[in-house]
Amino acid sequence: MTRVPRRPSGERARAGGNRECYGGTMAASAVRSGIDVGLRAWELDDAEELAAMYAAAAAELSTDAPWRTPEWFTAGGQRERIRACLDVDSVEGFVITAAGAIVGTLSLDEIRRDILQSADLGYWVAPDARRRGVATGAIGLAVGHAFGCLGLHRIHATVDIDNRASSRALENNGFQRVGILRGFAMVGGRWRDHHLYQLTAEDWLDSRRG
Ligand SMILES: CC(C)(COP(=O)(O)OP(=O)(O)OC[C@H]1O[C@@H](n2cnc3c(N)ncnc32)[C@H](O)[C@@H]1OP(=O)(O)O)[C@@H](O)C(=O)NCCC(=O)NCCS
Repeated sequence: MTRVPRRPSGERARAGGNRECYGGTMAASAVRSGIDVGLRAWELDDAEELAAMYAAAAAELSTDAPWRTPEWFTAGGQRERIRACLDVDSVEGFVITAAGAIVGTLSLDEIRRDILQSADLGYWVAPDARRRGVATGAIGLAVGHAFGCLGLHRIHATVDIDNRASSRALENNGFQRVGILRGFAMVGGRWRDHHLYQLTAEDWLDSRRG
């Protein structure tokens, strides 16, 4: 994993926790299914490319989250979204790349620095880049960052019970299904049950030892 030094970013660079990581851009890659999957902290300059990628999949993204306004799909909307993340310590946003091109996004949300030391994981891969191991590779890189760099203790993710691809991408990285959240999220006009997955730093370290 390579950490590329980044210009100090005001309050964020001075935030608590692991300063080196909070103040630096994380960039890492791994070869998965023969393609080079990368993860790097997103920047304001990514806004235009992200907007174009999301706009091409607007039908899916609007169904999954109707709160996404037309503005959200524009470069301006994405710039605001990225800026909002860069301004707080509780979120880390990343672009996922495949062979160098942006093909998705991943975020560690609700980062808690109290007795939980935890984060909520979310990700999205563009439809034409799916089923090539991209999500599996990107989640693996994010896990390494969260435990190895940020020093978190637990990562959790919630997955619609019918979302087999997402469940498999988590399971490929050692996440365990620990429960079910009834009526967890309103998707497509219905309250949908979700599986709760988690991975702890201890389990991750054990799996690496082998
Ligand atoms: C879920 C998602 C991120 C998976 O991305 P991906 O890059 O295609 O995932 P991978 O290629 O790493 O595949 C992971 C596993 O899912 C399987 N898979 C992929 N697409 C699948 C599908 N449509 N149906 C069933 N299984 C599928 C793969 O075969 C693989 O399983 P395996 O390891 O047993 O072979 C992507 O489909 C997506 O962005 N979906 C919409 C947003 C979303 O669901 N986000 C997650 C919210 S929790």
